[in-house]
Amino acid sequence: MRSFGRFALVLAAFLALVAWGASELFNRQAFAWAERDLAMRARFALEGARPALAGASPAEARRVLDALVLDERLMAASLCLPDGATLVRTFGYPAGFACGRLPPEALSAAAAGWDRTAEGTSGTVHVTALPVGGAADRRVLVLVHDMSFVDRRAETTRLYTFVAFALVGLVGAVAAAAAARLSWISWTTQLRRMITAPFRAAGQFTTPRRFQPLVADVRDLLATLAAEDAKAGATWTPERLRHVLRRNLGGEGVIVVANREPYIHERGADGTIHVTRPASGLVTALEPVMRACSGTWIAHGSGSADRETVDRRDHVRVPPGQEAYDLRRVWLSREEEQGFYYGLSNEGLWPLCHMVHARPEFRSRDWETYRRVNARFAETVAEEADGPDPIVLVQDYHFALLPRYLRERLPRATIITFWHIPWPTAERFGICPWEREVLEGLLGSTVVGFHTQAHCNNFLESVDRFLESRIDRERHSVVVGGRETLVRPYPISVEWPSHWAAETAPAAECRAEVRRQLGLAPDVLLGVGVDRLDYTKGIEERLLAVELLLERHPAWRGRFTFVQLAAPSRTVIPAYRELNDRVAALATRVNDRFARDGWLPIVLLRRHHEPPAIFRMYRAADLCYVSSLHDGMNLVAKEFVAARDDLRGVLVLSRFTGAARELSEALIVNPYDVEAAATALATALSMPPEEQEDRMRAMRAMLSELNVYRWAGKMLLDATRTRRKDRLATRLSPGPGAAP
Ligand code: F6P
Repeated sequence: MRSFGRFALVLAAFLALVAWGASELFNRQAFAWAERDLAMRARFALEGARPALAGASPAEARRVLDALVLDERLMAASLCLPDGATLVRTFGYPAGFACGRLPPEALSAAAAGWDRTAEGTSGTVHVTALPVGGAADRRVLVLVHDMSFVDRRAETTRLYTFVAFALVGLVGAVAAAAAARLSWISWTTQLRRMITAPFRAAGQFTTPRRFQPLVADVRDLLATLAAEDAKAGATWTPERLRHVLRRNLGGEGVIVVANREPYIHERGADGTIHVTRPASGLVTALEPVMRACSGTWIAHGSGSADRETVDRRDHVRVPPGQEAYDLRRVWLSREEEQGFYYGLSNEGLWPLCHMVHARPEFRSRDWETYRRVNARFAETVAEEADGPDPIVLVQDYHFALLPRYLRERLPRATIITFWHIPWPTAERFGICPWEREVLEGLLGSTVVGFHTQAHCNNFLESVDRFLESRIDRERHSVVVGGRETLVRPYPISVEWPSHWAAETAPAAECRAEVRRQLGLAPDVLLGVGVDRLDYTKGIEERLLAVELLLERHPAWRGRFTFVQLAAPSRTVIPAYRELNDRVAALATRVNDRFARDGWLPIVLLRRHHEPPAIFRMYRAADLCYVSSLHDGMNLVAKEFVAARDDLRGVLVLSRFTGAARELSEALIVNPYDVEAAATALATALSMPPEEQEDRMRAMRAMLSELNVYRWAGKMLLDATRTRRKDRLATRLSPGPGAAP
């Protein structure tokens, strides 16, 4: 608006100058014309009067002159002699032009005529002196014409010129403003389209050349902001994560939605309430992020004493004793838990997404419950949100529909959805009877994250196959119904440094304590596995590898024990109960086969273990074997590395985990290849300490960089970019009140 005002002022000044110049020019010209006209009139007057003047007496001559001055422009007239004497003059003849005051050349009877324009007492006058004529006649007729009409005409001309220019200027300014406005609207519309180009359907839009540099600039600016954030410090820390939230997202706390709660209140057999931390990679990763960011974690309240420990709003502050954020519990009936959690989530989506040859079960009543529970959680998020644009981190396959439900309720929310498990190929995903709804649900998100690029690619292919969409492979995004969702890999991780590691006794102490508990002889090496009892974890293959190790390398009989910490999981589901039985039978079989003199090759501890016990075990172990048959990331591998500040211990890691892409100094195995896995175990057990240290140092260095704060920070930064882009696009929108 200010620039328009400046433009109008400059235009007005310019037009005034032009109007003044034009009127001056015109007046000068008009004055010259008037002078010429009066000189001519004087001659005509003389021509007309000459016969009457010829031989006229002074009285007769006076009458002739009086008749001449009846002309309204002729003020006065006189007859002079060349010596300056006045023969006769009309009444009121101006003294300033008396015959005696005229120059000799004016009164010369031989002259062809003389005229001058001069200032008289009553304004501008034009004086003409003309010889009356005839050889004997020496008289000169002097006519004084009033020229004030020229001044009046000049004034009027000036006024009309200014008015005319003012009108032209006004019309011009209005036209220019309208043209500028129209061109601004078209410009901003096009620019907006450029910036929001991903929102257009394929083929509908290409970037015109003139916009390319500008769009690139805007995008560069956004990228620079993100790069700035990325450079703000080499390592991601809780402080840096908080800084990102504060600076880029208004500093609000975040809302996490996850089925699993980070703290479960259980009433024990003795009647007391105690808190447990569930065996869940999701909780391992998210909990430190929430401690850093603060906000609210919304989860199913599944503990037997959960209802007793919340306030009237179903909130409880956690972690107990170090309260940093709110846990909001959502209550599910037994039927809801069955259909939503066990049914659709864990008998349908879980086997669908894991390539472990488990058959997905899809029941429409489970699907209905899943939809209902997702909608309930969306409502809960809306209740917890402080404003119209909260930052919501939606976790995992339990909530595929929630992003869309939430988008409908809170269109301006920043929704970051992370899928903690693999995403299957499009072909396999097509097994799901509600494939479109699942995809559309997830695409309500601002960002959808997976652990690896391969999972992103599978997801994009599924979208491509089942939805009308545009996939931007350069931006890694999907546009459906005019809305863009980024689809990017964000490898999840653990906190660094690990507070659990910091609270755990040094390695030597852990070794001593664990070995004493297990009754291990001093020369027995210790292997460890830590998992939920889940068929994706390859626990059977792991125990088979231990068996084969003892078979192929008898030297390790009596000198190697493998401890499996197995947290019971989803035991309502038959496949899990069967796995539980098979694992127990397998451990028994291997033990029966090789056990001797109080030594057991396998110790199977099927119960929940709290993090301090798990970290003690990590520190005491000589090797950790993670044998997942298919795993999004697997944080046990990363926790083992985080625990080993003594730089000892060997990680044997399945190549089918996301973690294998980062922890390349582990011994990478195919868990299905039991022979190779047994050899890897033998290699690990005989690895020299220096090599262990080298490998562990490298993995720890990697982990210190790629920690969980980076995982969350990267997602928040990507969401920030989208948020800024949306806001920029809104600002450029040619809506009412949009000013140039
Ligand atoms: O490692 C992540 C994960 O597999 C999640 O996807 C899952 O929610 C969690 O571990 C444990 O599962 P549950 O919540 O069913 O015990």
